[in-house]
Amino acid sequence: MRLQNIVLSLTVCAGLFATEKTIQLPQPDTKGGKPLMEAITLRRTNRAYTGATISRQDLSDILYAAWGVNATDPRVLHTIPTAMNAQDPVIYVALPEGAYKYIPENNTLELVLAEDIRTRLDRRGTDMFAKSAAVVLIASNLDKLKRVQDKGVQIQFAHMHAGCISQDIYLVCAAKGLGTCVVYGINKENATTLLKLPENTIPLYGQPIGVMAK
Ligand SMILES: Cc1cc2nc3c(=O)[nH]c(=O)nc-3n(C[C@H](O)[C@H](O)[C@H](O)COP(=O)(O)O)c2cc1C
Repeated sequence: MRLQNIVLSLTVCAGLFATEKTIQLPQPDTKGGKPLMEAITLRRTNRAYTGATISRQDLSDILYAAWGVNATDPRVLHTIPTAMNAQDPVIYVALPEGAYKYIPENNTLELVLAEDIRTRLDRRGTDMFAKSAAVVLIASNLDKLKRVQDKGVQIQFAHMHAGCISQDIYLVCAAKGLGTCVVYGINKENATTLLKLPENTIPLYGQPIGVMAK
């Protein structure tokens, strides 16, 4: 009897902590949050988080703002502009339960690594990554910018796109009362290897998101 209880407990625990291979995010709430001008006025960098998690709805809304699909008629278009409609951005998100690639067309997260890599994305070992609820990693697939011959301009465009993504994340966080900080000082080697970035996909910025410590 006691053994049965132990087996039952282990099964329940395994179910609770199992890392999902695919996370179907809730539909983004495209009508929610504070008015745009209020969110712009509230936008701020915040680096002190409590370590609490955020809801899947909040995660979905943040990723939608970052790089979601907001038009499919007739082309798939995104919430941020890209030069020549290159659509080079690639978004990953490190959660306590694992690291995922964001698939905007399906509004899903696809598991890349069933490990908590949040702090390993941080070059400086700050609390900001450790106590975040999620770390968004903004990358660029430079192959999609091949029409631009000058590599320097490719990189310039990639950073411009990352800037748009980052600001959208800032604004959604401001609208929801969540904290965030765009970080150049990430560990790019770890990001490349742990997230298995394909050749020519380069990591650009990390953006921890967290419940603000008061
Ligand atoms: C391109 C860029 C890179 C940044 N990199 C870092 C960083 O590595 N670490 C950090 O703590 N903050 C970083 N920040 C956040 C800035 O320090 C912050 O935006 C600035 O202090 C102004 O504060 P505010 O965003 O609240 O207006 C970065 C901001 C930008 C735009």
